Amino acid sequence: MYSSEADHVTELVQLVRGSTAREIAASLEAAIRQGALGPGASLPSVRQLATHLRVSPPTVAAALADLRRRGVVVTHERRRSSVSPRPPLTVDAADTLLPPNVVDLARGNPDPELLPDLRPLLAQLAEAPRQEHGYGDAPVDARLVELARRELSEAGVEPEDIALASGALDGVERALAAHLAPGDRVIVEDPGYFAVFDLLRAMGLEAVPAAIDDRGLNLSALTTALRSGARALVLTPRAHNPTGAAMDYVHSVALRGILENSPDVLVVEDDHQGPISGAPGRTLTRGRAHWAVVRSVAKSLGPDLRLAFVAGDAETIARVEGRLALGPGWVSHLLQSVVIQLLESTEVREQLRRAEAIYARRRIALLHALAEHGVPATGRSGFNVWVPVPDEASVANRLLHAGWAVGLGARYRIASPPAIRITCAALPEADAPRLAAAVAQAFQPVRRARVA
Ligand SMILES: Cc1ncc(COP(=O)(O)O)c(C=O)c1O
Repeated sequence: MYSSEADHVTELVQLVRGSTAREIAASLEAAIRQGALGPGASLPSVRQLATHLRVSPPTVAAALADLRRRGVVVTHERRRSSVSPRPPLTVDAADTLLPPNVVDLARGNPDPELLPDLRPLLAQLAEAPRQEHGYGDAPVDARLVELARRELSEAGVEPEDIALASGALDGVERALAAHLAPGDRVIVEDPGYFAVFDLLRAMGLEAVPAAIDDRGLNLSALTTALRSGARALVLTPRAHNPTGAAMDYVHSVALRGILENSPDVLVVEDDHQGPISGAPGRTLTRGRAHWAVVRSVAKSLGPDLRLAFVAGDAETIARVEGRLALGPGWVSHLLQSVVIQLLESTEVREQLRRAEAIYARRRIALLHALAEHGVPATGRSGFNVWVPVPDEASVANRLLHAGWAVGLGARYRIASPPAIRITCAALPEADAPRLAAAVAQAFQPVRRARVA
């Protein structure tokens, strides 16, 4: 605890050293890496740092501009800066272990019980007499391309070509990098997945928020956001994180109509849950010049299977695949074989249908239980239920005391109102009433003991 704002600033400026912009940026980065300045921490003003370091304000401003360009710090109104919520650095993180007996409903993992068993398949792979793949092979197995085309056509997606990436977010990054340059604007859903916000910051791209409701992007919000000159739109057609929104047919037609007036905008769809979303696939990409639909297997087959299809127009996919060839080369054929065998198995297909139904039942049980307590919430698909609250920290803290860890909405919001995110992927239906009662209780005003 600092006795005054001035003491706090004195403490912070001591962390910074150097007389050139490069040295100042390096010392700030070291303080962030070592945890002395945590994610979100406010930085002293340019003037305060310049006075402390005895350098000119433009030298400090240049150091901050370098850190901002790399997504390490963010600058707010009135030019005050803070550490990014998730700087692209290895940071000495504070211990994030939950207290014992607290149920974790904050992380967005699938239920491990509902993922396919890999043992029979790995045993089969272990029988292979030698390694088959090496340099110069086609980057994507032809059988996987066929499977991807079949899966995607169910969602109305008709790709010219298909590449692979190491997960949904990797695919989103590669599709954006294929067309955009630092400084470009990208429309994002608000609320939306925080990792997309963090990624844009790290790529030097500017997020333009557009409000979303239960059925996807708000029509007038998208129209306004397009007027900003945005070069791309990243959206989640179903299993939206954090609100659970899923586009219905009528809404998708209306959104497509609006986008027709902006034919040069790159549309990137993040279909991260695919077949277990609990909502039919929809797409805004048909007929567009440049687009990508990224379909990960992380939620349906297992988060450690780092593979996502990146489907799109020929030019986008050629750029994605060409760039991948210069770096990691390709997604391991060992992993491709595992995914092929899983997707070809009728047993696994049946299991995925069952998992989708169980996830939907868990989500609906929680929504019903909350409604019984008069607590409004959304969650049309996916793992998450989004509950608008007056004060995120106070509701989340009270739930933590009652034995439930939930996600603070702040990380998922840019300009949208406060809420908490409850991941119910592994929450048994029978526990929903108890959790809903605790949420309703956490809304009650705090009764303060009278002090004599
Ligand atoms: C909307 C969204 N996209 C992408 C991901 C991450 O997917 P992957 O692990 O395939 O990168 C998540 C994870 O929760 C997500 O919620």
